[in-house]
Amino acid sequence: MSAIVFKNLSKTYRKNGSSFNALNDVSLTVEKGEFFGLLGPNGAGKTTLISILAGLNDACSGSVMVLGKNIKQHTSFVKSNIGIVPQELVFDPFFSVIETLQIQSGFFGLRNNQLWLEECLNALGLSERVNSNMRSLSGGMKRRVLIAQALVHKPSIIVLDEPTAGVDIDLRESLWDFVRKLNRDGHTIILTTHYLEEAEALCDRVAFLREGRLCAMKTTKELKLLDGGLKEYFRKINLREQHG
Ligand SMILES: Nc1ncnc2c1ncn2[C@@H]1O[C@H](COP(=O)(O)OP(=O)(O)O)[C@@H](O)[C@H]1O
Ligand SMILES: [Mg+2]
Repeated sequence: MSAIVFKNLSKTYRKNGSSFNALNDVSLTVEKGEFFGLLGPNGAGKTTLISILAGLNDACSGSVMVLGKNIKQHTSFVKSNIGIVPQELVFDPFFSVIETLQIQSGFFGLRNNQLWLEECLNALGLSERVNSNMRSLSGGMKRRVLIAQALVHKPSIIVLDEPTAGVDIDLRESLWDFVRKLNRDGHTIILTTHYLEEAEALCDRVAFLREGRLCAMKTTKELKLLDGGLKEYFRKINLREQHG
């Protein structure tokens, strides 16, 4: 059984009387245990795809299955199996780091996950800031808390939407070590990024999204065998699209 199956997903936004295709008949499958990259320039439709998976947005057509179950019919099953780190820094300014994680744990009915929370806080370099107010944290620190927040229930599938945007190099390295470890421990990882190097360094397989369409899919092994690597390949598929 696959971790996630997106099937013929389309999404049209209506804006000021005109309509805009953010996703156009996208089908892709992510296998259990994979480290999967969703790569594409800004506006490609990555966040739209993730928000449909998260149940925050409805597709106009198509379906999404998580571990064999349709997300429309099994919302609580899906919530308990997925952790999503959103692209936007959304947080409640009135709570401390640990309170934020405890409240999130409460949503899942978890009370005895202290050890796991500590492990996440350590791995993300947050141990010294557990009692800090969310307001007082820098952008990079807030990002770390959002990652910990998505992990409180130890979801088997972890989705990170542009997690390194605005994050300093030090955190980037430690964040990747942590995510790699989660993947080694059996978690399926889906990462969206517009950094080519990041996808190449981390992912087993990469899907390329452009203007709402899936334009290519490659394993990292295949990409490494290409002349000029990922950058050159990316340039080629962009050109091919532009010149029909
Ligand atoms: N709520 C919305 N209403 C109208 N247009 C939207 C909305 N959300 C996203 N879009 C548009 O859909 C396209 C894809 O956006 P998005 O999924 O955020 O792309 P990405 O995450 O790859 O940068 C963009 O052109 C964006 O402006
Ligand atoms: Mg996005």
